[in-house]
Amino acid sequence: MIVIGLIALFILMLWLFRNITSPLRLLNKEMKLVTEQGFNRSNVALSHWRNDAKNEVHQLGVIFTDMMSHIERQFNQLQQVDSQRKTLLAEISHDLRTPLTSLYGYLETLQLNKSELTPEQEQVYIATALRNSCQLRQLIDQVFELAHIESGHVKVINERFNLVEVLYDIVEKFALKAQQHNITLVFEPETHYMMVESDLNKLERIISNLIDNALRHTPANGTIVLCALAINNGGYQVSVKDSGVGIASEELANIFNARFQASNSAKTSEQKNIGLGLTISQKLCELLGSQISVTSKLGVGSEFSFKLV
Ligand SMILES: Nc1ncnc2c1ncn2[C@@H]1O[C@H](COP(=O)(O)OP(=O)(O)OP(=O)(O)O)[C@@H](O)[C@H]1O
Ligand SMILES: [Mg+2]
Repeated sequence: MIVIGLIALFILMLWLFRNITSPLRLLNKEMKLVTEQGFNRSNVALSHWRNDAKNEVHQLGVIFTDMMSHIERQFNQLQQVDSQRKTLLAEISHDLRTPLTSLYGYLETLQLNKSELTPEQEQVYIATALRNSCQLRQLIDQVFELAHIESGHVKVINERFNLVEVLYDIVEKFALKAQQHNITLVFEPETHYMMVESDLNKLERIISNLIDNALRHTPANGTIVLCALAINNGGYQVSVKDSGVGIASEELANIFNARFQASNSAKTSEQKNIGLGLTISQKLCELLGSQISVTSKLGVGSEFSFKLV
């Protein structure tokens, strides 16, 4: 009887030993393999661990597999972002080269052929070189601005101000340009006193980008309306609405992507726009705790809006 009892106990211990140590050894082996592969699990076939409440080794195995899936997802995302960055950098370098080549060309001609140029020609060459350097500076400023925002080091400096006064100032800044293009630019506040707490410079930048876009995509005799409305749950909705060319519905989802320019894009011969304005505006809006949205119809116009609290 005692012998049978001892044999049963021995078998039980053996069973327990096998059930605990062999999965543990397997898990240990998988962990080591994945670590050796630099946490890249593509070359390691991980076991299918059961989410067994009674077996702690299996529970650990499930946690380990989840952790590896998480690392894999983040790694893939990083790779994707890295590849997008490389493309963006290549495209931006190309954009910068155009005004730089032109600037260099005009300065070189001025230096080599100065004696053959009339004073008028000389003035034209200097003016063109200046225009190109100005364009170059604008492009570089925009690239730096985007890089700075993406670095995560941008500080939001909130202050209380009357939104209406600020919007009037911005409209004033664009009044001459609108007049030159024969476009009516109006500001329609619901009331004249709308106190908000926000970052004034960032807000100005967002609205200026939107008005600049609206001016470039609205033909003569068109209208641009800047609007500020109180919203039900507090805060205000700011919108820039134009009667311009509009954006095709299939392109609308892409317009906030860096370097994306829709087929309607108003291209000037100088080509100083490189498709960063809306990306910057969207990121600035996020910093202000808001989200920019757009509705548009080809041939009718576009409306960009966001909320401020
Ligand atoms: N109000 C608008 N009406 C029609 N199309 C617009 C409007 N605003 C933006 N778009 C489209 O979205 C694209 C992206 O705008 P975004 O401001 O990012 O770039 P951009 O104005 O072309 O260049 P940048 O802002 O860098 O000078 C524009 O090229 C244009 O095709
Ligand atoms: Mg723009």
